[in-house]
Amino acid sequence: MGKWWKKAFGYQIYIRSFKDSNHDGIGDIRGIIEKLDYLSYLGINLIWICPFFESPMDDNGYDVSDFYNVSGDYGDMSDIKELIAKAHQKKIKIIIDLILNQTSDEHHWFQESRKSKDNPYRDYYIWAPPRIIDGKQTEPTNWASFFGGSCWEYDQQTNEYYMKIFSRKMPDLNWKNPKVREEIINIAKYWLDLGIDGFRLDAVAHLGKSELIDSTYQTSEKYKPEWEKYSNLPIVHDYLRELNQKVFSKYDIVTVGEVGGRALVEDALLYVSPKRKELDMVFNFDHNWCNNGWNRKKGEKLKINVPLMKEIFNKWQSGLQGKGWNAIYWLNHDQPRVASHYGDSDYFQESVKMLAVCMYFMWGTPFIYNGEEIGMTNPKFKSIDDFKDVSIHNQYRINVLENKQDPDDFINQVSYSTRDNARTIMQWSNEEYAGFGKAKPWNMINDNYPIINVKDEIEDENSILHFYRKIIDIRLNSEYNNVITFGKYQQLAKEHSQMYLYLRQYRGKKILVICNLTCEKVKMDELGYKIKKIILSNYERKEVPFEFASYEAIVLEVE
Ligand code: NOJ
Repeated sequence: MGKWWKKAFGYQIYIRSFKDSNHDGIGDIRGIIEKLDYLSYLGINLIWICPFFESPMDDNGYDVSDFYNVSGDYGDMSDIKELIAKAHQKKIKIIIDLILNQTSDEHHWFQESRKSKDNPYRDYYIWAPPRIIDGKQTEPTNWASFFGGSCWEYDQQTNEYYMKIFSRKMPDLNWKNPKVREEIINIAKYWLDLGIDGFRLDAVAHLGKSELIDSTYQTSEKYKPEWEKYSNLPIVHDYLRELNQKVFSKYDIVTVGEVGGRALVEDALLYVSPKRKELDMVFNFDHNWCNNGWNRKKGEKLKINVPLMKEIFNKWQSGLQGKGWNAIYWLNHDQPRVASHYGDSDYFQESVKMLAVCMYFMWGTPFIYNGEEIGMTNPKFKSIDDFKDVSIHNQYRINVLENKQDPDDFINQVSYSTRDNARTIMQWSNEEYAGFGKAKPWNMINDNYPIINVKDEIEDENSILHFYRKIIDIRLNSEYNNVITFGKYQQLAKEHSQMYLYLRQYRGKKILVICNLTCEKVKMDELGYKIKKIILSNYERKEVPFEFASYEAIVLEVE
């Protein structure tokens, strides 16, 4: 079967914040249908839509209560069918989240499971009895949850704990149980038969759990963040091969696994080596935290850690090429906005355009995140009420309410990294509610929507939006399509402390990408290649400069 996805350019939609068609303050499926023309104009040919299934929305839909139905917040099955048909007419493929690690506690499997120890659904989830330590009842292990606190929740009804590595309303499925695997296989088939073109496999690295033995991590926290206890264990690959054999291999689709956290290139290769028949590509998180963010002092500017970022790019590009496929992206709904995270507000346009060049001429299928293409930024959080993310509220309870951290300190600390950064309302225009809908939206709108919005950027040919359109067009439709898709990646000037340079070459065609990752100007000697053409420049250069300006990026055809 053809590998259409190698020539795809993906666009991720966080449905709740994207476009509200029925003016109830919540983005919806018909909102996406309304914006298909815009997506065609942007030039992408693949969308990944975040979960729209029935859900109590504890974690905005990653807590599913019915995998076979659409949440009333977002529309109904006929809307989804219409979206698939209309997107396909425009040659846009659609992938959706396959949520395999957990359900909502309101899913009927869990409602049954918690009733009694001999309920037929008991083994759909991971239950364990309490331990008694120093005369006190305690959790089955001391493992932490990603969202704060223990990864276990006590359930009075049967006097046992269930595992939940995310929120307490998201019990983990027991993948050891073949019936659970069968259920997920049926869910996947159902959506594929409806016409979708593949899946982003949510939290797939965590399907296997190790023996229930305490972590010996020496940390001050009560619950130990030893994620290896439930990340990338060998058994996950058995589960994926089964899914591949029974479902994925039967359709012409793409599968992208979320295997971030501490996954290494070696781990990734196990997921994406074609001969292993598991997944087509994976998202890793390595490049997401290459700045001074975690340790910065209040008011200090964020700055890219250039050597680290270069090393990470090189490691993943060189490590996977020729052995499997790659997915490239700057952010998703779990990360801060790239314009704030790695961009420089003093050189906003330049730095944001440079970052786009830096990423999207590399090797792998690109995924941009809604709003990235117009340079949307992190909002300003003033109080805990500005946050919607369940994990922030959990941490607030533990750190501020229980452990008395100063609330302002807490907000300052989490503002840098919170997932809420990416979830503010999509900025369509400078009209009321940023053109999202006619009712007050469910989440914050960034104050800068009168300046940063789609409508104004369409009218300004120097905008970030037009620059993204150019990149997408060069990547998909120009004579450089093959070299960008398949070309060998080679990093140049490896030791340079400011510049990131890489060469892509394929069947005699070569392109050279040059990015200044800093605000300081950089003189560069002979590049070592004969320049044939300037393909793209964020400073609109007609000639290659001798001195590169702040955050300058240039893409050259060379020989
Ligand atoms: C990863 C998703 O991207 C995130 O948003 C979600 O909270 C967890 N998986 C749990 O499904």
